[in-house]
Amino acid sequence: MKPDPRPQPQCKVVPGAPRHVAIIMDGNGRWATQRGRPRLFGHHAGARRVREIVEACPDQGVEYLTIFAFSTENWKRTQVEVAGLMSLFRRYITKETRALRDAGVRVRFIGDRERLDAKLIKLMNDLEEATSHNGLVNLTIAINYGGRDEVARATHRLAQDVASGKLDPDKVDEETLPKYLDTYVLPDPDLVIRTSGEARISNFLLWQSAYSEYEFIDTLWPDFTAEEFGRLCAAFGGRERRFGAVET
Ligand code: IPE
Ligand code: IPE
Ligand code: MG
Repeated sequence: MKPDPRPQPQCKVVPGAPRHVAIIMDGNGRWATQRGRPRLFGHHAGARRVREIVEACPDQGVEYLTIFAFSTENWKRTQVEVAGLMSLFRRYITKETRALRDAGVRVRFIGDRERLDAKLIKLMNDLEEATSHNGLVNLTIAINYGGRDEVARATHRLAQDVASGKLDPDKVDEETLPKYLDTYVLPDPDLVIRTSGEARISNFLLWQSAYSEYEFIDTLWPDFTAEEFGRLCAAFGGRERRFGAVET
């Protein structure tokens, strides 16, 4: 699918809004179990929540939304669940490409693509290409993503550049390293939300979230709504971020 050449609308300016929100979409399995259904039923319900949250972003002043869909550790699940999730990702991309493109959403993927199947990789590349001219909302989907894996892969590439003489080792610092991360074009997340009551980050955006604000909420991901998203974005505006400094 070709990019949409028409001029794109702009994200609303909302004072105090988080510019970049990242979400650990957790609780699909428990949501399904509570209903006596297989875990994949919860994953399908979870995938259906994404569109409403993406569409809510421009009104909240959120320019970047990053969602955790599959971690480097999620391969440890049963073969049935992993295959079901991979098939869901393929179906989701196929079904949503047109709507995302027409809604002005630019989609990017982060994570290690090497372990993914060729069909899924092609769909991911095509979706990135089809939405590459958009900029109303920047949606980043993390698939086979792990913060440690990302830093390790970045370090590997950085070491190659040092070995080949392209990078001076004395120039390796806090500015240089993030240029090798999958997220090199994204600002750091201002707000990280985790649904389902777990208060941990499970290897998500380790480097990038050093100074993010966190919201751990009990809602299971398939029950998460644009209204709750709006409340969390509004609450973010009331937080005092100090970044280690003392107010003078
Ligand atoms: C999050 O839901 C989605 C993925 C990790 C793919 P879970 O599948 O982790 O749901 P719970 O935590 O078991 O309820
Ligand atoms: C984190 O959830 C990964 C995703 C939401 C994709 P998990 O359910 O895999 O995390 P743990 O196992 O509870 O830490
Ligand atoms: Mg979970």
